Amino acid sequence: MTEPAAQLGPSAGLDWWQTGVVYQIYPRSFADANGDGIGDLAGITEHLDHLAGKPDSLGVDAIWLSPFYPSPDHDFGYDISDYLGVDPKYGSLDDFERLVDACHRRGLKVVIDLVLNHSSSDHPWFQASRASRSGLYADWYIWRDAPGRTLTGRQRPPNNWRSWFGGSAWTWDEPRGQFYHHTFLPQQPDLNWRNPAVREALLGVVQTWLDRGVDGFRMDVFNVFFKDAQLRSNPRRIGRRGAWSWQRHLHDRNQPELHDVLRDLRSIVDTRPGRMTVGELFDGMLADAAQLIAPRHLVFDFTLIGLPWSAASFARTLAARDAVFGPERWPANVLSNHDQPRHASRFTPPGRVHAGLTVADGRAKVAAAMLLTLRGTPFLYYGEEIGLRNLSIPNGQALDPPARRAGFLFPWWNRDQARGPMPWDGGPGAGFSSGRPWLPVGPDAAQRNVAAEASDAASILATYRRLLRLRRSNEALISGSQELLARGAAGVLAYIRRAGSDAAFVALNFGSGRARIDVPVASPGRAWRVAFSTTERVIGDEVAGATSLAPLEALVTTLA
Ligand code: NOJ
Ligand code: CA
Repeated sequence: MTEPAAQLGPSAGLDWWQTGVVYQIYPRSFADANGDGIGDLAGITEHLDHLAGKPDSLGVDAIWLSPFYPSPDHDFGYDISDYLGVDPKYGSLDDFERLVDACHRRGLKVVIDLVLNHSSSDHPWFQASRASRSGLYADWYIWRDAPGRTLTGRQRPPNNWRSWFGGSAWTWDEPRGQFYHHTFLPQQPDLNWRNPAVREALLGVVQTWLDRGVDGFRMDVFNVFFKDAQLRSNPRRIGRRGAWSWQRHLHDRNQPELHDVLRDLRSIVDTRPGRMTVGELFDGMLADAAQLIAPRHLVFDFTLIGLPWSAASFARTLAARDAVFGPERWPANVLSNHDQPRHASRFTPPGRVHAGLTVADGRAKVAAAMLLTLRGTPFLYYGEEIGLRNLSIPNGQALDPPARRAGFLFPWWNRDQARGPMPWDGGPGAGFSSGRPWLPVGPDAAQRNVAAEASDAASILATYRRLLRLRRSNEALISGSQELLARGAAGVLAYIRRAGSDAAFVALNFGSGRARIDVPVASPGRAWRVAFSTTERVIGDEVAGATSLAPLEALVTTLA
């Protein structure tokens, strides 16, 4: 018998990926079980207590694993040479199955990364494709003749498209005597989604991993799958530094044919209840994201990830997103990932890297309160729960391939900085590895590590744990509507979340002075009571009329 709707909580119609919190793991850097300096699947399995299943776990609902497939690592796994395998450096398919089982036993879902826009140039499909213009795989990639020669006598590329990783998006291939297209590195040729055989093979990959028990997919750069059928050049425009910005990217992404493929892909995923996708919007706008969000499927719009430490900036961006998404689209909230500088570093006041430690940690706590109380699904990036900072790696020693190609026409940041080993304890190798970690552990690992923060009630880790616990217990924070109240005046961002008779009022002081704020009127017969604060406020105390926020105070009150 179905329960009457009125007796179900407001989140009853929502799925785990709307009500839950997702934790991104970069497998290379999370935990190394066999001491070769590279994180692996067995290492992740050994550290699941940190994430879920124990009273003092973080209490997240799902992990998203960045790629662990066989790869020559020109882009550290985002160049896949076998879509159905596990790279031996990360373990085996058995290790993967053990990890999925272990996650499921403790109620954790597993989301994997699918990189279906391009494969590795080592993939047998590309090897066969470059070998013959008439073979079975001839049209699996985007090949074109050169339309002539340049003034210097070199083959002229088919159009003006640029690679996101610098230079032309076309590379001349001697064996085939043609150019092939690559949105990223030459070692990452773009697959030809217009070819039905390619489509069938890639959808088959989705099916296989579903059969293997995964709960969802993060779809790498999914809005780039289709390019203009006639490969027209992009119109030029005046841009900033870097040739990518000198053209309007009309023809090399966001093509209408994408919707058809997404329908097919999503319908395969939807045959299994509770499965999801989250599409990574590549270099896109809010309106593009809004178009691509579908029932039961999320899109990373990345609007929050680039913002400076400013309540007014967050308020403006949240208001703009609310206006475009409306109440029916569910946002994905992200402050850090494997591509961007870590937010604890981004938010560190300039020139205060050492002296500003307390301020920077204070900001990281306010950021955590925001991420975990805004409407939408929070995606945490491993290490942010202990306030992990960027690694400082000199450009000359960068391992990140685009960082090695950087120049005036191609400004780039070093993504190594956000991919440092997870510091588990203060021991050698920070408990990440008994060997030599592939990237150095941070200089502060002796103090900033999971074990140290676990025993400190005032730590960033303790703050994340408290916030996650509160979020789980409050329907308004999980599924509620969102209304912005303070939009940055006096450095405060404040909003109210409502679901049925539950409500939460959140006030975040981004500033380092005290700030007075008006507290909204509570419902008749009820009062706002402190449910969380980064200061000494007493949990359960009533807050009414107006209150003074301490510097960098994050305050969450709920109706009681
Ligand atoms: C987006 C991924 O997040 C990034 O790490 C990768 O380099 C590109 N896609 C290419 O796959
Ligand atoms: Ca290893």
